[in-house]
Amino acid sequence: MQSLVHPPAEPFMIAEMENLTKFLAALPKAELHLHIEGTLEPEMMQSLAERHSIELPWHSVEEIRSAYQFDHLQSFLDIYYQGTRVLQTEQDFFDLTSAYLDRAHEDGVRHTEIFFDPQNHTERGIAYEVVLDGILAALADGEKRLGMTSGLILCFLRHLPAISAMETLEHALLRGGNLLGVGLDSSELGFPPAGFREVFERARSEGLHVVAHAGEEGPPQYIEEALDILNVERIDHGVRCLEDPALVERLRSAQTPLTVCPLSNVKLKVFPQMADHNIAAMDRAGLCVTINSDDPAYFGGYINENFAAVQRAFDLDQAALVQYAIRSVDASFAPDTRKSALREEIIQATS
Ligand code: ADE
Ligand code: ZN
Repeated sequence: MQSLVHPPAEPFMIAEMENLTKFLAALPKAELHLHIEGTLEPEMMQSLAERHSIELPWHSVEEIRSAYQFDHLQSFLDIYYQGTRVLQTEQDFFDLTSAYLDRAHEDGVRHTEIFFDPQNHTERGIAYEVVLDGILAALADGEKRLGMTSGLILCFLRHLPAISAMETLEHALLRGGNLLGVGLDSSELGFPPAGFREVFERARSEGLHVVAHAGEEGPPQYIEEALDILNVERIDHGVRCLEDPALVERLRSAQTPLTVCPLSNVKLKVFPQMADHNIAAMDRAGLCVTINSDDPAYFGGYINENFAAVQRAFDLDQAALVQYAIRSVDASFAPDTRKSALREEIIQATS
């Protein structure tokens, strides 16, 4: 497989920041790793807190923003779960999702597969239906307004017992709503994928797609478990795979998509700085790497800021950026007809 990272032999075609921003905005793409709760911007957090008279530990947008200093995944999750307390009504979930769609559309996102964490909300007394209906209504509206297609992936919180995940899935199956798939997120270390074998089996038997966060902070063995025991189709993050050459070969030959989130990895100190990120090495190893934003309100940027950060750190040329866009479409769960249309849009936009 051809590497996407080219040596800077020719003069760089998109050297200026303004040109890069314009180029990326016009480049159609899919987003495959995005937690809708992670798009809650401080401004919306504050206004929803006021709407519902909820006391936050911060008193201004600036205070909220300055609290976003993380040492590792758990220090982020502690703040993230605090923030989501302001999400109370179907309207809140609608507003949150609509704001993300508008923002993503500006970045050229034409198809998005969105994670949501229902247990985060049901655990604090918000009905599953409130969450689901608000998000689904916004996605339907987004398709009409923006032509953006989407799917919803229900994530189980791995720090909670597997029985809670199974109850959540059974409730979701009864409720319907045309879910695209299930995933696994939250605290990784100490919560290996194997514990969720049955719930993933059940989801697969219902025809749902399956993905899991693995190898973000956790060891390569968690990636193997996600593949062998949960039978996942994509790995979310997966950056620690490079520690295990046999696993790299397996991921390479199966072309298993890895939904990498570069700004997230730096913000959560998986890598000290972008120049130390292993995305270029993953790419050279022939892995099916995609670029995504994870929790953009917390990590300093939406999808194009992730593309731009990788471009700057590894001096990618236009062809490499286009390849990433094509890969995002290929690795999506969109129907084949939609994938073909999106690939055509990419060709039209860049030729
Ligand atoms: N939930 C939201 N963002 C997450 C991440 N980066 N890893 C695990 N769980 C998450
Ligand atoms: Zn994530």
